[in-house]
Amino acid sequence: MPHARPVSTEPASTPHTRTPPARTSAEGRAPAGARAARPADGANEGKGPLAGAVALALAETDGFIRARLGAAVFLVLVTAVLAGLAPVALKYAVDGLGTGQARTVALTGGQAVALGPGLLIALYLGGLWASRTFGEMRWYLYGTADRRLHRNLSRRLLDHVIKLPMSFHLDRKTGALNQTLVQGLAGYSILLNHAIFTLLPVLVELAIIGAVIAAFLDSGFVLILIGSIAAYGAAFTLGVRQIIRPSRAVSTAQVDAFANMTDSILNTETVKYFTAEREVKARYDTALKKSEAEWRRFYLRKSLNGVLVACVFALSLGAAIFLGVSQVTAGVMTVGDFVLVNAYMLQIVKPMETLGAAFRDIAYGAAFIEKMADLMAREREPGSLPEADTHRPPTRNISAAAQAAQESQATQTLRGDMGAAAGAGELVFDTVRFSYLPGKPVLKGISFTVGRGKTVAIVGGSGAGKSSIIRLLMRLYDPDGPSGADGGSGEKGGDIRLNGVSTRALPLDALRQAIAIVPQDTVLFNDSIAYNIAFGRPGCARGEIERAAKLAHIHDRVMAMPDGYDTIVGERGLKLSGGEKQRVSIARAALKNPQIFVFDEATSSLDSRTERDILDNLIAVSRGMTTLVIAHRLSTVVHADTIIVLDQGRIVERGSHSALLQQGGLYAAMWHTQHQGNTNSLSEKEIA
Ligand SMILES: Nc1ncnc2c1ncn2[C@@H]1O[C@H](COP(=O)(O)OP(=O)(O)OP(=O)(O)O)[C@@H](O)[C@H]1O
Ligand SMILES: [Mg+2]
Repeated sequence: MPHARPVSTEPASTPHTRTPPARTSAEGRAPAGARAARPADGANEGKGPLAGAVALALAETDGFIRARLGAAVFLVLVTAVLAGLAPVALKYAVDGLGTGQARTVALTGGQAVALGPGLLIALYLGGLWASRTFGEMRWYLYGTADRRLHRNLSRRLLDHVIKLPMSFHLDRKTGALNQTLVQGLAGYSILLNHAIFTLLPVLVELAIIGAVIAAFLDSGFVLILIGSIAAYGAAFTLGVRQIIRPSRAVSTAQVDAFANMTDSILNTETVKYFTAEREVKARYDTALKKSEAEWRRFYLRKSLNGVLVACVFALSLGAAIFLGVSQVTAGVMTVGDFVLVNAYMLQIVKPMETLGAAFRDIAYGAAFIEKMADLMAREREPGSLPEADTHRPPTRNISAAAQAAQESQATQTLRGDMGAAAGAGELVFDTVRFSYLPGKPVLKGISFTVGRGKTVAIVGGSGAGKSSIIRLLMRLYDPDGPSGADGGSGEKGGDIRLNGVSTRALPLDALRQAIAIVPQDTVLFNDSIAYNIAFGRPGCARGEIERAAKLAHIHDRVMAMPDGYDTIVGERGLKLSGGEKQRVSIARAALKNPQIFVFDEATSSLDSRTERDILDNLIAVSRGMTTLVIAHRLSTVVHADTIIVLDQGRIVERGSHSALLQQGGLYAAMWHTQHQGNTNSLSEKEIA
C-alpha cells in the first residue's frame, strides 16, 4: 500500500520526517482512505498560506454574511460620495456669502435651480450628518457579518484540528494551539474590518476628491495631491515592510508565552506537590519578557513610521496652503476655492493616515493569520470526511456513515455485510508491523483473528505494544508502509480487516463507530456525568444512561453525589477518582452498543471486588460480541477464548488459559508470579 503512513504526514520541519502519503494505490486507483488524505481545503493547494487563509474565509462566507457585507459596502460607497462632495457645497456657500449671489445649478432638460448659501450650508451639514449616520449603520452590518464569519471559521478550525492525526496532537502544546487559533481569528477580523472601513472608502473618497480638484482647481493642486499620495504610499510601504517581521516575532512570542502558562496551569497539582511555584513563575516570566521585548520592537517601528507619515502630512498641507494663498492673492482663486482646498487637504489626510495605519495593521493581522494558515494546510487523518459529511448516527448504524463516503466497492461490502450481521464483527490482524519512530519497531508482524462473538485477550509486559495494537485498530496510526517511493523496497506493514474489509478502505467515522473502547487512561469532558456517559450516543434517554451506569457499577455512587447525574466532573474529570472515571468510561462504551468491544486495562484502577463485579458485567455486556481485552492482571482474562502473549512486539504464545498454563511458558510464569500467595484472585481450579 503506497499510502502507507498518511496518518503521520507532517511538514518537513518536524524532527522526525516520515514517508509522505502517496495518493494512489498499487492499482493506480485512489483508495477511499487516500482520497480523503488531502489538505484541509482543496482551496489551499498550491497557494501561499495567506492566499489559502483568504480562500478559507471565502469558503466560509454564507448568504447571511454576503448580504450584510454587500449592504455595508453600499453604505460605504454612499458615505464616501457624501463625504467627498460635502465640501463642494461649502465652497459654493462661502463663495455665495462673499458675492451675495445664489449658485445656479443646471439640471437636465435645460432647467436650472438656484441654491442660496443657506441651502448650500444645509446640504453641507446634511451630507456630513448622513455620512456619519451611515457610518454607524455600517458598524452594525459589519459587526454581525464579522461575528458570523468568526463563528463559521471557528467551527471549521475546531473540526480541522480534531481531525488532524494523533502524531500532530502528541506534539502540540495546547496553549500554543489555542493562541494560534485565537490570533488567527483576530487576524481575520482585522483584515475584514480594514477592507470594509478603510481600504474601500478611502479609495472611493480619494477618487472623488481627485476628480473635484481636477474639475475646479489649478493643476498645481492636482500635482500636490498626486505627490502627497505617492509620498504617503511610499511611507506606508516602508511601514509594512518594517512591521511584518516584528509582527511575526510578536505572534510567536505570544504563542510561546501562552503555551507556557497553559502548561503550568494544567500541571497545578504537580506544582503544588513539588512546591515549584517559583520555578513555574520564573519560566513564565522568561517567556513574557521575550514577548514584551518583541512588542517593544513592534511599537517602536510603528511609531517611527507614524512620524514619517506626519512629515508627509505637514509637507503636503503646507504645499497646498502655500499655493492656495498665492493664488488667492493673485486673484486667480476665490476664497471659496481656498476653503475647498483646505477642507480637502484635511479630509484627505485622515483617510490617508487611516490607510497607513490599516496597512500596518493588515501586515500585523496577516502575520497572525500565517500560523493558523499553516495549521489549516496540514493534512487531516486519511479517511476522515469533510465537515459537512461528518455526523454520528445515534445507534449502531454504520451504513449511514459509510453512505456519506463516496461509494466504493469496499464500503458496499461493509454495508451489506454489517447490515446483515450487526453486532458481530470479525477482526483480523494480518502480519501487522508498526513503528512510531523510523527504525524502532513496536509491533513486528502481529497476526491474530477475533472471530465473530469471540473474546481475545492480549497480555504482556509494559511497553510490549498492547495499546499500540488498539491505536492501529482505531486508525490513530497506520501500519508501516514500504519505505521506498517505488512502492516495494521496504517491508509491508500488513493489514487490519474488519469483516473482511481493510480498515484503510473504510471511512474513519464508520470504523470508529463500529468499535467501543474503554481506554487505558480515561479523560473526561468538563461537563456532567450524564453528558460524559452519553457521549458515545448523543441524545439517548436518561434511562439508558442509568442502565449503562448500573452495568458499570457507578449508578449508586452517582446518586450519592449532590447533583447526581448532573454533577460536573471537573477538567479532564479531575473531580472523580481514578476508578470512578474508569467506570464512567465503561458505561460510555456499553452505551455505544458497538460491533466490537475493546477494553484496554479497563479495570486496572479498581479494587479486586469491584473489578470482579464489573468484570462479570463486562462479560455479560460483551457476551456474543466480538471483544478484545488487554490486561495486566491475568485473572481478568481467563475467560477469553484465546489469550495472546505479546513480548517486545511479537506474539510469543497463544491459546486458552488452561492450554497456556500447561504449556509452561511465559504466560504460566506470569500467572504464577501474579498468584504467589495471592488468595484474593481466582484460583486455577475456580477457572477450570
Ligand atoms: N507516540 C509515541 N511515540 C513514540 N513511541 C511511543 C509512542 N507511544 C508509545 N510509544 C512506545 O511504544 C512502545 C509500546 O507502547 P504501548 O503503549 O503499546 O505499550 P503497552 O503494551 O500498552 O504498555 P502498558 O502495559 O504499559 O500500557 C513503548 O515502548 C512506548 O514507549
Ligand atoms: Mg498500554
